[in-house]
Amino acid sequence: MTTAQRTLWRHARLATLHGSTPWGWLDDGALLVDGERLAWVGRDDDVPAGSAVDAEVDLAGALVTPGLIDAHTHLVYAGERAGEFEQRLQGASYEQIARAGGGIQRTVAATRAASDDSLFALAAPRARALMAEGVTTIEVKSGYGLAADHEARCLGVARRLGRELPLAVRTTSLGAHALPPEFAGRADDYIDAVCGWLPAQASAGLVDAVDGFCDTIGFTPAQTRRVFDAARALELPVKLHAEQLSNQEGAALAAGYGALSCDHLEHLSASGIAAMRQAGTVALLLPGAYYFLRDTTLPPVAALREAGVPMAIATDHNPGSSPTLSLLLMLNMACTLFRLTPEEAFRGVTIQAARALGLADRGTLAVGQRADFAVFDAEHPRELAYRFGHNPCRRVVFAGQERARCIAPGSLA
Ligand code: NIG
Ligand code: FE
Repeated sequence: MTTAQRTLWRHARLATLHGSTPWGWLDDGALLVDGERLAWVGRDDDVPAGSAVDAEVDLAGALVTPGLIDAHTHLVYAGERAGEFEQRLQGASYEQIARAGGGIQRTVAATRAASDDSLFALAAPRARALMAEGVTTIEVKSGYGLAADHEARCLGVARRLGRELPLAVRTTSLGAHALPPEFAGRADDYIDAVCGWLPAQASAGLVDAVDGFCDTIGFTPAQTRRVFDAARALELPVKLHAEQLSNQEGAALAAGYGALSCDHLEHLSASGIAAMRQAGTVALLLPGAYYFLRDTTLPPVAALREAGVPMAIATDHNPGSSPTLSLLLMLNMACTLFRLTPEEAFRGVTIQAARALGLADRGTLAVGQRADFAVFDAEHPRELAYRFGHNPCRRVVFAGQERARCIAPGSLA
């Protein structure tokens, strides 16, 4: 562990993502870390003479990038759904399984039955798997509790991950994820309840943003609007699972509330794109869910690019539609399946992912930014999108401190 206050990291191949050059590239770069922040970033030759440092590290040409950001996960849950995977392989659809009482409901039952400690014990290794690839910030949604106490417990477990691991955690309240069985046939009453929980979640410091699932097996645009009105009253930003299985014009609705991001977007319409562009809403694309559900409708990437809508990429880690714990694999899938360029995909897990979380202090390597970065055994960041099923991350610095070299599964780093 490097514990020095001021550390100079030298001779890195540096992808800063700062400025207007491709990748913000520096062939032989250096970073000066002062406490939790970057005090200087530039060419190694230009390191200010006489900089007082406590320690110096020679990276010998290793690749350094901003710490990766997974801006959409459902990391806190119990149980798995491998049986549903088998059912889907035999022809059942995600929607049919959900309507038959499986899907999200199955995970809700298992999550409600689990203690806070066991939810934490299940979530921590998932977080560590993400961290091992260079992830330094994650978003975690609730949405498998679907009752006031269980939703608060899941958000509390997410907060605990941020306290006990060298990882920044942003929490999102997703009560409007699915209709719990006790509200069967009473979706509007359930939405009343969800809106009623938000003030207590907010005052307990459990929530950074509010999300919903606007779709045929989720909630209607009118119900989503009510959740967003409740969020707005608390000055909480919103985001939305939008146009995943069908077009509900959810993206335009969310953009009207200045949403940070609209996520999935396979069925996004031209008017949705226009509304997102106008609001500055990030298109958060989730290739893992597209792949795992064997979807055939691609999100309109070319039109999003053309419109200048920023695109982010995340794992969507969850037990039903995307049980992956590899953000690096998502880079590859974003390129091969969605036709993003490697640089677009990489910006999608750094600077644009930060934007999708409303964070301006990370996602690039520039003076004043958080000193969150990852060191990879690679010559160029395009290799991170090119290889798959391979983890070249060698070191991670989080808030200026180097994490334990290898974050072994099962150990708290
Ligand atoms: O992002 N779309 C809804 N929610 C999740 C899936 C949740 C689940 O199947 O458990 C998603 O794909
Ligand atoms: Fe999701």
